[in-house]
Amino acid sequence: MRGFFPLVFSALASAAAIAEPRQAPVVTVVSATSLGGNGCPTGKFSYTLSIDKTVGTLIFDVYRGYVGPTAPPDSREQFCDFAVVFRFPLGCTSGTITAIPGGYIQLGAGINGTFSSQYTISPGTLGPNPANLVFTSAQWAAGGDYTEVQAIPVKETIRNENERNVTFTARSRLFLTAPGPDVTGQFGVDHMDISISQPTVC
Ligand SMILES: *[C@@H]1O[C@H](CO)[C@@H](O)[C@H](O)[C@H]1NC(C)=O
Ligand SMILES: *[C@@H]1O[C@H](CO)[C@@H](O)[C@H](O)[C@H]1NC(C)=O
Repeated sequence: MRGFFPLVFSALASAAAIAEPRQAPVVTVVSATSLGGNGCPTGKFSYTLSIDKTVGTLIFDVYRGYVGPTAPPDSREQFCDFAVVFRFPLGCTSGTITAIPGGYIQLGAGINGTFSSQYTISPGTLGPNPANLVFTSAQWAAGGDYTEVQAIPVKETIRNENERNVTFTARSRLFLTAPGPDVTGQFGVDHMDISISQPTVC
């Protein structure tokens, strides 16, 4: 019998090692910066990270469009370009970049609010750009807070330590279209959560 138990033990141990699933990759957010635009001028853009650093919350102090008799001139349309740096593990990782814009919106009769964004990533590849978000007075006449989810598939192949920081760039704008000069509305992107949901090894 001597030697039998160690043999069984080591056979079980290697079976467990084979059955163990590959560890799910963890993608963290390193930083976010404004690249310019009247919706995110210097000093009016900031961000926070979740404790585990997997979610970055961008905070826009003045990314807000207005229409109506007392609206500031040229405030119907606002722009903001920004970049978020993700840190990927080595190897191939695929997942979904989830951008969740939110804020206050109020649209008088017939006004529409639109948020349009083009996303790119470097290095790596993204799936199709998300459709414009369109809000109408039918839903938002009374005013309230919205959140919307934009999901963009992503794939990264990281070959060495120096490639691990990956820059996700957005060129975004929001604008209001009004049926006439007398109706009042406003639409803001006040915050946006950005993360990579369900990253998996590919
Ligand atoms: C990548 O991000 C890390 C933070 O996780 C930072 O310390 C490092 O300087 C960055 N590297 C590059 C090349 O930007
Ligand atoms: C708002 O959107 C609706 C539906 O897409 C469209 O029919 C309408 O013309 C738009 N209104 C304005 C003022 O652009």
